[in-house]
Amino acid sequence: MIQSESKQEFEALLSYLNSHFGCDLSVYKRASLVRRFEHRMHQLEINNYTDYLEYLKNHPEEHLHLLNTVLINFSGFFRDRDSWNYLASVIIPQIIRNKQPGEKIRVWSAGCASGQETYTIAILLAEILGIEQYLERVQIFTTDVDTDALLQARRGSYSTLEIAGIEDKLLSKYFDKNFENNEHRYIIDFKLRRKIIFGRHNLTLDAPMSKIDLLICRNVLIYFNSETTAAVLVRLYFALKDNGFLFLGNSESLIKSQNIFNPISIKHRIFVKSNNLTLEQHLLILPTNRRKKKAIINTQTDET
Ligand SMILES: C[S@@+](CC[C@H](N)C(=O)[O-])C[C@H]1O[C@@H](n2cnc3c(N)ncnc32)[C@H](O)[C@@H]1O
Repeated sequence: MIQSESKQEFEALLSYLNSHFGCDLSVYKRASLVRRFEHRMHQLEINNYTDYLEYLKNHPEEHLHLLNTVLINFSGFFRDRDSWNYLASVIIPQIIRNKQPGEKIRVWSAGCASGQETYTIAILLAEILGIEQYLERVQIFTTDVDTDALLQARRGSYSTLEIAGIEDKLLSKYFDKNFENNEHRYIIDFKLRRKIIFGRHNLTLDAPMSKIDLLICRNVLIYFNSETTAAVLVRLYFALKDNGFLFLGNSESLIKSQNIFNPISIKHRIFVKSNNLTLEQHLLILPTNRRKKKAIINTQTDET
């Protein structure tokens, strides 16, 4: 157990991580951050922040382990199934109706962790549009700040436990079954993956995508402090097309969003970009980027 630590020692640790590794962890909620640090220190049998700072200085690779502990990557296919059903039956048809025939449908899965959310939306779009229209019209950008998680997302290979949320019919249609290292693995269909662009992107720093019809950012905002949440919501606002939709996690709300989104379904946490802002509201939400940085979108894509 960590002894009662001074705030300054913790701040010194945060400041070292920021200056030496470019990780600004001050954007996350302080209480959960402290819990995650303590968890990692406990694993290393270190019981105060000063010793942990020394350890970081002597073992620079430790910052990656710490980040893995702080950035909780839990995800699942069709997590909160009712909300995905609502998206499939109400929102996606509306997006399609508002398009010209052949016009692209642009989706951004932000904070995608190991990819389950991205492949869930890909499967739904392929089911609704049919695979040919999916291949012609869909573009899915999928991003996370965590490169290890992105690597897993790009691999698209899941264990028997991880695919538990997927109906058998969809499983056999969109996954290939392999036997590797003494276990069954389910590999996402190559065709679905072709329309997905993976990239490292930090929601608190990097320029947002643009002209997005559907922005899925579930169970990510919940980790940010309220000031950061408000700033990230402004970026999400600018990423969306007029009348674009934002899909949040079931425990997230938009209290500080300055009415820049209107609810479509509070229950399912689906919102639409508000397009009748007054000039005053526009000025209020102009991004006040602390550090403007171009999106680090790694353009590696399977679409070749
Ligand atoms: C709990 S997971 C949510 C995964 C998925 N969206 C879902 O709901 O199943 C939270 C994800 O947010 C990512 N994340 C945390 N901070 C981020 C940031 N500043 N920019 C982008 N992604 C971030 C983490 O790396 C992690 O993969």
